[in-house]
Amino acid sequence: MRVNGVARRGVWLEGREVMIIDQTALPHRFETRVLRALDDAIDAIRHMWVRGAPLIGATAAFGVALAMRADASDAGLADAERRLPLARPTAVNLAWAVARMASLLRPLPPSRRAAAALAAAVELAEEDVAINSAIGDHGLVLLRGIAARKKPGERLNILTHCNAGWLATVDWGTATAAIYKAHDCGVDVHVYVDETRPRNQGASLTAWELGNHGVPHTLIVDNAGGHLMRLGMVDLCVVGTDRVAANGDVCNKIGTYLKALAARDNEVPFYVAAPSPSIDFALADGGDIPIEFRGEEEVLEVSGLSAEGDVVSARVAPAGTRALNPGFDVTPARLVTGLITERGVVRPERAAMARAFPERNTSA
Ligand code: MRU
Repeated sequence: MRVNGVARRGVWLEGREVMIIDQTALPHRFETRVLRALDDAIDAIRHMWVRGAPLIGATAAFGVALAMRADASDAGLADAERRLPLARPTAVNLAWAVARMASLLRPLPPSRRAAAALAAAVELAEEDVAINSAIGDHGLVLLRGIAARKKPGERLNILTHCNAGWLATVDWGTATAAIYKAHDCGVDVHVYVDETRPRNQGASLTAWELGNHGVPHTLIVDNAGGHLMRLGMVDLCVVGTDRVAANGDVCNKIGTYLKALAARDNEVPFYVAAPSPSIDFALADGGDIPIEFRGEEEVLEVSGLSAEGDVVSARVAPAGTRALNPGFDVTPARLVTGLITERGVVRPERAAMARAFPERNTSA
């Protein structure tokens, strides 16, 4: 997608350099970084310079490629395979990407691994773009269908949580892919953007990228969604996911579950944009998904732009207050209307998901 008229991606190659956008600087500054070594890729994922399940997976693939550039021995490969998945626990795309790279590289002689790894990382990134574009095409059919049932002149109101936009992927985004496509082909679409405390991915990232593309949107506090749904102001919710279990339980950014509950109570459709690399067919249900717990300071402090133009942090709780900071929650499959995958909208239940992705079914 475009930033100030320039086409950008979440991770890309410039010559031999692996480039990323430092998302911790957005929306106040647009900064790119070069990843030169495996440790840089691990840092980028761990410190959330890159974030969002698909982008974490693609960055990890480039991390393996950087590791092979430095040491393509069996020991070098094993080291990348062991260390990368530890960078963040919840998004299954990380382990998926590393396993895919390792199984391709292991049979090769070390002399061929560096070139093969780079080509494989590029291929994985391109695949992510194609998957998200296909999700967008299927989602567009859905959005058009709901828009067609509205009165003439009424806009289509979508609520989204966190950032499942192009910044969370290589391009298009998952939840936003259909929104961009709908906007581009003239559907009168408007997005309610949850701010998504504590790290404010909605306020700082989703609002930024929708604004850059000219998609009408309104920022709301996390607790406003249920109220808006009661007032009939939301036609559907579309969120992303970090991991879907084999039974259709959906793990996503903390607060997603409450939105799904409110949607069910108000008969608002609740869709999850789910690329197949985010589906963990080895996990029977969402109960076993590892939930990341993050630092207390993310809850106790907020950061923003001062009147002087500096990015500053401010404490919002009394000194000595303790905070608990689970990064994700699990929405039970029964609250999910459908999974928008690259192969169409799939019911969030074991048999339907296995039918849609027969090659991935490990019968958990
Ligand atoms: O902690 P993050 O910012 O990496 O979490 C990302 C999310 O949970 C998003 O909601 C997203 O939908 C999943 S990735 C498309």
